[in-house]
Amino acid sequence: MKTKVLMVCLGNICRSPLAQGILQSKVDADKVTVDSCGTAGYHVGKRPDPRSIEVAKKHGLDITEQRCRQLSVNDFDDYDLIFAMDKSNYADILAKTRNTEHAAKVKLLLNEISIETDEVPDPYYGGEGGFEYVFQLIDKACEAISKKL
Ligand code: 4NP
Repeated sequence: MKTKVLMVCLGNICRSPLAQGILQSKVDADKVTVDSCGTAGYHVGKRPDPRSIEVAKKHGLDITEQRCRQLSVNDFDDYDLIFAMDKSNYADILAKTRNTEHAAKVKLLLNEISIETDEVPDPYYGGEGGFEYVFQLIDKACEAISKKL
């Protein structure tokens, strides 16, 4: 059976689309399914932010086919692993869980690696450097996750 992984941030246009694209590029699609969503619904139906598209492209990844969607309670049944980009996302996701089995699926992405920070910062209001830094953090975590899947 396939392992289903869900990457979650606030808007689903900056960080989690990168996390989806990066992890997808590191795993066997026959064994692992990766999707992403946001805790908020501000940008539902939209493509990823052009700055995320650009930094992904710089690293050889095309994330332009992705479309924003909001986290649904059904996701807790549908996915095996749910990764939050920051602690605020983590708390918002946990608040939607209905039982301990669902809550146990929710993890902070950067807890998968030993690094100076445990949050992927929100780059939405920042500059280009922010997106490259975010890419690098997510890439390291996804490398570790891909080895465990
Ligand atoms: P993301 O970034 O959570 O990494 O997708 C954001 C995108 C949009 C907004 C906030 C964060 N917003 O407020 O619209």
